Amino acid sequence: MRVLAHLSDLHFGRTDPVVVEALLADLAAQKPDLVIVSGDLTQRARTHQFAEARAFLDRLPAPAMVVPGNHDLAPLYRPLNRLFRPRARFEHHLAGHADSTMWNDERLLVVGLDSTRHLRWKSGKLRTRHLDQLDNALAAAPQVVCRVAFLHHPPATALSGHSFDALADRGVDLVLTGHAHKAHLELITGQHHGTAILVQASTACSTRLREDANGYGIIRVAMPETMVEVRGWSGERFHAVRQQHYRKHGGHWKECP
Ligand SMILES: [Fe+2]
Ligand SMILES: [Fe+2]
Repeated sequence: MRVLAHLSDLHFGRTDPVVVEALLADLAAQKPDLVIVSGDLTQRARTHQFAEARAFLDRLPAPAMVVPGNHDLAPLYRPLNRLFRPRARFEHHLAGHADSTMWNDERLLVVGLDSTRHLRWKSGKLRTRHLDQLDNALAAAPQVVCRVAFLHHPPATALSGHSFDALADRGVDLVLTGHAHKAHLELITGQHHGTAILVQASTACSTRLREDANGYGIIRVAMPETMVEVRGWSGERFHAVRQQHYRKHGGHWKECP
């Protein structure tokens, strides 16, 4: 079995320190093999916010993989940086995390895809090069039994929603996203009938709450089965809010009651 922790939208600069500490303690108790962070680590891509994010990643109980979110690009009020060096601070401060966009431990393949667009603020995009990147990673790891892709933007805000179908058709088992600050689980089906489990996480520890409380996901992969547990903040601690069990049969994922 592999245990993945999926965090998103940390937004250092707008975090609740009590929630941050409780999150680290809860993560340690879950004993993940890998922590996946699907973007928006900072509120405004400021140096001290990236330093806080880096310190947080360094305290995690497992290796971490990250991709940027729209909040991690140089802000629009710094137009030259935004235009020419949008990811410079992200890459500088998160070196060692940001450049490890692939994880392959023989059983599990995890690929991070940068869906941000520096000329647009909120909408993301999956580009042809992402699918090429994924194809190369999949071709190089034929032995893995579970394939995971993660990116910041969910289907509702990615300009090419059908790109998510393409992930399912490529044999990706799990697609992990954030950005909406709302936990959501869904099975997606590609045009060629591939299926993937979409896991969208709430904001893990920021005060930028929308409908959901702070939360994150624990994903237990024991092929052909996967259990996704949404863990939410009660005001005192993180606890299991929802558990959804999936089984892959005949090449397709199905929800189990
Ligand atoms: Fe966010
Ligand atoms: Fe975002």
